[in-house]
Amino acid sequence: MKVTKAVLPVAGLGTRFLPASKAIPKEMVTVVDKPVIQYVVEEALAAGINEIVLVTHSSKKAIEDHFDVNYELEAELERRGKDALLEVLKQTTPPGLKVTSVRQGKALGLGHAVACARPIVGDAPFAVLLPDVLVGQSGSTVDLADMTARFNASGHAQIMVEPVPEERVHQYGVVDLQGAELVPGAVAPMQRIVEKPKREEAPSNLSVVGRYILPARIFELLDQTGPGAGNEIQLTDAIASLLGEQTVEAYRIKGRSYDCGNKLGYLEATLAHAAAHPELGEDFRALLKDYR
Ligand code: G1P
Repeated sequence: MKVTKAVLPVAGLGTRFLPASKAIPKEMVTVVDKPVIQYVVEEALAAGINEIVLVTHSSKKAIEDHFDVNYELEAELERRGKDALLEVLKQTTPPGLKVTSVRQGKALGLGHAVACARPIVGDAPFAVLLPDVLVGQSGSTVDLADMTARFNASGHAQIMVEPVPEERVHQYGVVDLQGAELVPGAVAPMQRIVEKPKREEAPSNLSVVGRYILPARIFELLDQTGPGAGNEIQLTDAIASLLGEQTVEAYRIKGRSYDCGNKLGYLEATLAHAAAHPELGEDFRALLKDYR
């Protein structure tokens, strides 16, 4: 079965992003001219994934609205002959994109959020994309597309990883590849994965970025997974069970990631995307010279 579905956990309250996230979801905060979540959905589409399952919360309806057709706005832009804007608007809901949502009533952790999507995902393999993280592409390469292609060919779960400085390993899931060196774009079978290890106990400095391709078996394993780090049900712990049964591969990112869950990471994402923007990039780079 090919990967065509992605689960996006968006129920979190976004306290690290206050006050911006007081009345709008943190996923709707803008990077240059699009909300963060739109970049993530575009990344999924570029990897051949067109069914998005939002695991969401009652306070975050703006996300569903963003991916719905705004008929009144479209009709008004059409009436005024604003064709370019109409096209921009239509690109938020390209043909073939299917967005559904399911509620996560209680914040019991990432593993619990993913388990909430089971009734919609069913028996199919699926991707998990954490929308706090933007994955910037290197050239024309879409890392997630490489991961889905690998899964579609081998059936082996794919977990995106990236090296981080040792003082930050405690913030992430960290993988053990028994010392195997991974060049960007390469994979290696995972021996172990641990959620938020202490620096001295971390098996490597390869952290989990927030992009996963998983078989449906993970749902059964999540059912058997109790609270772990932070007293939350951790996706990492279910992946640890999965790799006891079958091959799970770590895939090293070729592009780079931007952690928009914290303010400095968000600013860097904004800078990078503004500098590379097809219409604004050149002027923006010139503008930056005034702020050195
Ligand atoms: C989650 C995952 C963690 C991963 C991280 C990436 O942690 O549990 O394994 O490394 O996302 O951003 P969180 O950031 O939700 O604490």
